[in-house]
Amino acid sequence: MSLQFHDHHFRIMLVGDPHERPVRDAPDNLRKTTDYLRLQYEAVSALKPDLVVLMGDNAEGDDPDELRETLLRITEPYAVNDIPFAFILGNHDLECPVSDLKEQYNVYRTLPGCLLPPEAEVSEYGDYSLTVQPTEGDGDALNLWFVYSGNRAEPKYNSRYAFVKTEQLDWYRAKEKALREKNGGTVPAILFQHIPVPEEYRLLKRRSLLSMLYDGVEGQDNRKGAYYTLDKASRAEGYLGEAPCAPDYNNGQFAAWKETGDVFAAFFGHDHMNDFVGMTDGIILGQCKTAGFHVYGDGLMQGVRVLDLDDRCPRSLDTRMVRYRELAGTDCLSIHGRNKVIPDRWNVKIDVLLKALPFVGAALVPLTVGRLLKKR
Ligand SMILES: [Fe+2]
Ligand SMILES: [Fe+2]
Repeated sequence: MSLQFHDHHFRIMLVGDPHERPVRDAPDNLRKTTDYLRLQYEAVSALKPDLVVLMGDNAEGDDPDELRETLLRITEPYAVNDIPFAFILGNHDLECPVSDLKEQYNVYRTLPGCLLPPEAEVSEYGDYSLTVQPTEGDGDALNLWFVYSGNRAEPKYNSRYAFVKTEQLDWYRAKEKALREKNGGTVPAILFQHIPVPEEYRLLKRRSLLSMLYDGVEGQDNRKGAYYTLDKASRAEGYLGEAPCAPDYNNGQFAAWKETGDVFAAFFGHDHMNDFVGMTDGIILGQCKTAGFHVYGDGLMQGVRVLDLDDRCPRSLDTRMVRYRELAGTDCLSIHGRNKVIPDRWNVKIDVLLKALPFVGAALVPLTVGRLLKKR
């Protein structure tokens, strides 16, 4: 199936970190899956995307058959609506017994609507691309890169998370060159990858510890002890619910995009709370928070991200989150109590406050009694 702009428009729906599990695990899984499916059915019905992209940490299974069954369940809303989908794998996807990337890809190839190309067109590391044709005329209007960002880095790199390998960057450069030559010029591209690039930190501003009291988050890994908020100077918009879990080692992926000049936007999963988007050095970097309910998330603020493109101005992009609350209201089986009303880390802060209250009270009582005794 080929992808094409219609009436100059092409819409992509990003689905972050579903983390779907086999139903046998626990009855609660069914409720969480029901909520995921409700969100997805409502989203495809309201948004009518031309393509869905699963952003990694997609599903697990004890063998290829069970993995297929799990994936069939979460891609059903796209299949029954004849919407094709593409995917990237996340750091957790290969942690299940189906731990070989090629074996997983062979399972995905059997799913209705999956656009994964034949093995010969996929890099040794699992990277591939899909082009989108213009409304009219020849050539490729847009290229979409799907890049596997691995799991953990080797200890010598002093980085918890892996990064895109040098060999992958070589494959990307060669493939981009071939596409450029075929089209007689650079084809604008959007890249999808699970683990964000370290350059996401350029969208943040370093703050004091006090920022924790409002919207500051503590840095991850080698950035522990530093606090950040979104940097208005980078025009970053959206929600920073946790510091980006990017690798601490920079292998030059962002620099490679600058060198080739094709990538104008890159979108990531992995960080379940974050849904911010900003621009640095001319490239849009954006987060897609989780759409799943099996993992930590953002209550009813979870949702899908929409990308709207126009082949008359291919490097312009409109993007927004569409949330569970907008699509399905508060009718949700796996989110309870105040989590339905107050999303995200404010709930964590309220919990911390409630836990701290008895201690504050215990400290105040002797102080008050002491003062009263003094007055007498
Ligand atoms: Fe995840
Ligand atoms: Fe992840």
